Amino acid sequence: MRNTSEEVRVLIYGVGAIGSRIAKLILKKKGFKIVGAVDISPDRKGKDLGEVIGISRELGVIVSEDAEEILSSVKADVAVHATSSFFKTVYPQIANIVKHGVNVVSTCEELAYPYIVDASLAASLDSLAKKHGVTVLGTGINPGFLMDTLPIALSGVCQEIESIRVERVIDAAKRRLPFQKKIGAGLSPQEFDEMIKKGRITGHVGLEQSVSMIADALKLDLEEVKVEPVRPVIAEKPVESREIKVEKGMVAGLTQTAYGLISGEPFITLVFKAYIGAREEYDSIIIEGTPRINQRITPCVHGDLATAAVVVNSIPKVIKAPPGLKTMKDLPVPSAVLGDVRKYLADKS
Ligand SMILES: NC(=O)c1ccc[n+]([C@@H]2O[C@H](COP(=O)([O-])OP(=O)(O)OC[C@H]3O[C@@H](n4cnc5c(N)ncnc54)[C@H](OP(=O)(O)O)[C@@H]3O)[C@@H](O)[C@H]2O)c1
Repeated sequence: MRNTSEEVRVLIYGVGAIGSRIAKLILKKKGFKIVGAVDISPDRKGKDLGEVIGISRELGVIVSEDAEEILSSVKADVAVHATSSFFKTVYPQIANIVKHGVNVVSTCEELAYPYIVDASLAASLDSLAKKHGVTVLGTGINPGFLMDTLPIALSGVCQEIESIRVERVIDAAKRRLPFQKKIGAGLSPQEFDEMIKKGRITGHVGLEQSVSMIADALKLDLEEVKVEPVRPVIAEKPVESREIKVEKGMVAGLTQTAYGLISGEPFITLVFKAYIGAREEYDSIIIEGTPRINQRITPCVHGDLATAAVVVNSIPKVIKAPPGLKTMKDLPVPSAVLGDVRKYLADKS
C-alpha cells in the first residue's frame, strides 16, 4: 500500500510522439515524479529524457533500452506505456512491468479490449496482474474514449436503444506528417492498394475493440463484429497540407467502418475518416432510442492532446482500482486531474 502523501512515481515506457506528450503533461501536474524512462530507439536511448521530449532542461532521467534493468532498479507506482498497437506485441513488455509490481496505463489500441484478440492471453494478464496486486488498463482517445466510453456514458440516459452510430472525421492537414503518411495521403489509388497489401497502411486499429466494449457494457448479444476493409478517400479536387499536395483522383486519406450486428442489422456502427481537406472535423454520436441522442463535438477532439490527457487522468483511477486487467468501462466515470494527483488518491470514494 503506497503512502498517499508521497509523489506518484511514474515510469515512461516508450518515449515516441505520445510518450513524450504524456511525459510533458506529467511534468506540468502536481504530485507526480518521473523516475525512469525506457525506449529502444537509437535516436532516444542513452539521452536525458528532457532532451528526448524536447524541453529545454535536463531531467536527470536517462532513457534506457533495458526495461528489466530499470524495473529492477527503480521503484515506480505506474508505467505509462506507449510502444505499439498490438496486444501480442506488447504482452511481454506489460507482463514484465506487472511482474515488478507496477500498475500499467497503456495506449496500445488492442489492449483497450484485448479479450477479442486473444481471450486466453487476456486471462493470463488478468491473473498475473491479480497475483502481483496491480491494475492494467489500455486507453487513449480512440479506442479508449470517443468511440466507446463516451457512447457508453450517453447510453445511460436512454430507456431503450435501437442503434448507435459514432463517426469521427479528422482533417489530416492539421495533423503531424507521420500521421498524414500513415493514412496514405498523396499516394495513387494503386500505391495505396500496394501499401495495404504489404501491411504498411493498417488503417485505424481499435474499431473492433470499441464495438466490443460498447456491446459488453450494454450486454448486447452481437452475432458478429464486422470490420470493413480500409478504403481510400479519393480527392474530388486538389487539396493540400503544409507538407503534401494531393491532386484530384489521388488518395487524400482513408476511411474504415465497423459494425456490431444483431439479426443481420447493424446495432452499432462506427465510422472513422481521416483525410486531407475534410470540410468539417467532428465527433458525432447518434443514439436512436428513447430519448434520441444527437451529440456532436466540433471540431473533433485533438487526438494526441487528448490521448495524453486520458492516460494521465486515468492514473489515479488505475492505482485505486482493484487488481487485474481492466477496460475503461470497468473504471469510475472519466474525469480530469486538475489539482495535485495525491488529492485524488487520498479521496476514499
Ligand atoms: N489509443 C489511442 O487513442 C492511441 C492514440 C495515440 C497513439 N496510440 C498508439 O500508441 C502507440 C505509441 O504511439 P506513438 O505515436 O508515440 O508511436 P511512436 O512515435 O512510434 O513511439 C513509440 C516508441 O516506442 C519505442 N518502442 C517500440 N518498441 C519498444 C519496446 N519493446 N521497448 C521500448 N520501446 C519501444 C519506439 O522505438 P522505435 O521507433 O525504434 O520502434 C518508439 O520510440 C502506437 O501504437 C499508437 O498507435 C494510441
